[in-house]
Amino acid sequence: MTERIGFEPKIIGFLCNWCSYAGADLAGVSRIQYPPNIRIIRVMCSGRIDPAFVLEAFKNGADGVLVAGCHLPSDCHYLSGNFKAARRIALLRKVLADFGIEPERLRLEWVSASEGDRFAAIVRDIVEEIRKLGPNPFKNKDGETQ
Ligand code: FES
Repeated sequence: MTERIGFEPKIIGFLCNWCSYAGADLAGVSRIQYPPNIRIIRVMCSGRIDPAFVLEAFKNGADGVLVAGCHLPSDCHYLSGNFKAARRIALLRKVLADFGIEPERLRLEWVSASEGDRFAAIVRDIVEEIRKLGPNPFKNKDGETQ
């Protein structure tokens, strides 16, 4: 695990519409600074995130993936989506390890609509962690996945 000079991690963020996306939006309207390394994909619920979406992100060169949803246990607007996400992400981290991708590259966080500062802190933290891990191990020296 070597930190590469000039390496800027690409992070894909799957955020649920009702809490985490609103939290990211609040960070934006509140002008809270966070690194521009994250590309956000809005989904209706964290329970909607198929593990294949995460694998596809890594296959296409993401260095890290953030999944964020409404706080456990009872904030999910579809009642149990966040529980499903928690189970799926735990399993997926084991699968990633089998593929040779460090499980730390996949993060699951709960962010409410009022937590813009928390969202920004999470993004800062994940960018630093991925920076330490280095690029996606499936990328070649030109930054393309094989
Ligand atoms: Fe946010 Fe389900 S609606 S996690």
